[in-house]
Amino acid sequence: MRGDAAYGQAFETTGAASGIGHAKVILVGEHAVVYGHPALAAGLSVAIRAEARKGSGRLRVPAWGLEATVGDDSQVGRALAAIVRRLEAPPLDFELDAQFPSRAGLGSSAAVAVAVARAAAGACAHDVGDVEIDAAVDQAEAIFHGNPSGIDAAAAKRGGAGRFTRAAGWQPVVVRQEIRLCVGLSGRQRDTATQVAAVARLRDRLSVTDDILATLGKLADEAAGALGKGDVDGLGRTFDAAHGLLSALRVSSPELDALVQTARAAGAIGAKLTGAGGGGAVIAIAPGHERDVLTRWKAAGFDGFMAEIAATPGAPS
Ligand code: MEV
Repeated sequence: MRGDAAYGQAFETTGAASGIGHAKVILVGEHAVVYGHPALAAGLSVAIRAEARKGSGRLRVPAWGLEATVGDDSQVGRALAAIVRRLEAPPLDFELDAQFPSRAGLGSSAAVAVAVARAAAGACAHDVGDVEIDAAVDQAEAIFHGNPSGIDAAAAKRGGAGRFTRAAGWQPVVVRQEIRLCVGLSGRQRDTATQVAAVARLRDRLSVTDDILATLGKLADEAAGALGKGDVDGLGRTFDAAHGLLSALRVSSPELDALVQTARAAGAIGAKLTGAGGGGAVIAIAPGHERDVLTRWKAAGFDGFMAEIAATPGAPS
């Protein structure tokens, strides 16, 4: 019961417990964060909701056409097994309502792990605290991504924005005014572990790779400063610079570059790939031109949607 008797009672009475994991975007600093530099990320307004009921260890995500069972050979089956084993949860079935696409660089695996772990914790007869939930999510993420920095899981747990480093974890960042993002989907699924391995190989072959990663980390801090000041133009500039550096790391793709160029042509003041790259998504800031960006993406054959990063409650406007 997530440290709170009401959860357990709700499960006993209704036979269901639920949990939420947020979609995330890395605003600036992906890949750099793997090497100890900071990255700036934010939970989005879209999320995954998991509902747990007594059952036999099945998981379904109808929106993604995904089904798995505790302990089957799939990554999801193995991750699910790790979560229920770590939390010592009773036999449960999970039904997930996903509001965003999988494997698009929006942290879908971490959001699934967080939502499932929270729902499973709510269905346990014993107390389950945040430390156990975090450990279960970390084990699941290691199955999905090998050696993740932990930023996806940290963002999926929270709404708002945060600066993340491997050493210090997640530190909340003030968002002075709501930021509206256009999220464009390349249509090509990304594979985080492959992209992280490609950057590791580039470090052996291109001497300035570490300088590029360090500069991305500096840009993450500049972007955090812009969020705190409500400086949307400044944030857009960091997006454009970061996309150039990520291209230099060779994690962009023709589709991601096309999405970025199309967004800029439609009035975006900054656009970049987000997440591991290779496929997945781009984010663009286009105040007053959001519909134009989505329309031009559609005309170019790409789906997209709008999402908000909420202003920090009580932040001076
Ligand atoms: C993936 O969302 C972000 C990467 O930096 C990998 C990680 O931090 O684990 C590419």
